[in-house]
Amino acid sequence: MSHPGYVHPDSPLLNSCPPTLPRAAYVDPAWYAAEVEHIWKTSWVYVGRKPELPQGTIRPIEVAGQRLILVHDETGAVRAFHNTCRHRGAELCAAETALRGRRITCPYHNWAYDTQGRLISTAFGTPTGDFRKEEHGLFPVHLRDWRGFLYVCLADTPPEFGAESLPGLSALDNWPLETLVSGHRREWDTPCNWKIFWENYNECLHCPGVHPNLSKRVPAFAKGINAPEEAVDWTPDQPSPPSLADGARSWTVNGLACGPEFPDLTEEERLAGANFLTMYPTMYITAHVDSLRVGRIEPLGPDRMRLTIDWLFAPETLAQPDFDLANAVEFTAQVIEEDVWACEVNQRGLTSDRFKAGTLMPQEFEIAHFHDWIRARVPASVTGR
Ligand code: FES
Ligand SMILES: [Fe+2]
Repeated sequence: MSHPGYVHPDSPLLNSCPPTLPRAAYVDPAWYAAEVEHIWKTSWVYVGRKPELPQGTIRPIEVAGQRLILVHDETGAVRAFHNTCRHRGAELCAAETALRGRRITCPYHNWAYDTQGRLISTAFGTPTGDFRKEEHGLFPVHLRDWRGFLYVCLADTPPEFGAESLPGLSALDNWPLETLVSGHRREWDTPCNWKIFWENYNECLHCPGVHPNLSKRVPAFAKGINAPEEAVDWTPDQPSPPSLADGARSWTVNGLACGPEFPDLTEEERLAGANFLTMYPTMYITAHVDSLRVGRIEPLGPDRMRLTIDWLFAPETLAQPDFDLANAVEFTAQVIEEDVWACEVNQRGLTSDRFKAGTLMPQEFEIAHFHDWIRARVPASVTGR
């Protein structure tokens, strides 16, 4: 067994250099279709935040190729349904709109449903006496409101919510997630497979070369590692160096907090500089003392995905008369630009006919876990195992 040198038993480093997923995982429409069926249609998928879906609104969304609607009714309840009318299947809602008279009304022949999806009226259609309205309600979709973050699951029986989160849902208990608002949003339509995004997210070997500014701010990144325990000569008795250089408090342009620090964080959470919550396959949160970023990952095809980043702040931070949005977002926006560039480079290169699979380095242990997560879900008939 190959070995990177001496590593402590508690080190997360791999003790071998395993192969990556095969090239087909990134280019083959059959792989992609299998992932849509076995990952995206069976997982909880992040679809946006409740504070940004006004009460009395219907919003069309798309998840795993399925058109859905989100409905935020006058009582504050949010529900999801398939965007298809039970009469003859017309699309109920093509663009975000206000609920009319608390009803979801089909634009074709005006069948109307209440916000719980129950059929209320067939309009000009006059059914016979054996027609039972209660058998023609909208098709519901499981929806979860986790601290103001909305997720849907297309499966009949959804998995336990949060089971796919790292390090666990409680990681951000001390951040006031429910009350935060988006101060800035950017979208990247990126020509890469969605897994390329997660692979890049999960390693820091690229940090010194791809993220020169971030690597100055976070000293561990300059060594190509996420944290001290990833160094090959790490031992638990070593003192932990500061997570941020030069007394910086956050990942802003000037390194200072862009507003009041969140009051309930522990000292350890403050000194960490960044705290992460990852929910495969759909989203991640990077939390700082003064702000958060939410990344939403949407697959659009074997070699396309959309990345949407929201920068979230406390309302009082955005309300500061001297709030400097550029200082708050541009440092990390540049990091994301750099990562998007890396993802595109990776996708273009692995389309080579000669590339069958790559090889992971011991520091890429999180990618190895992610690949195992994928292999456990995509059928052997597709993976060729
Ligand atoms: S298809 Fe919706 S009312 Fe006819
Ligand atoms: Fe990166």
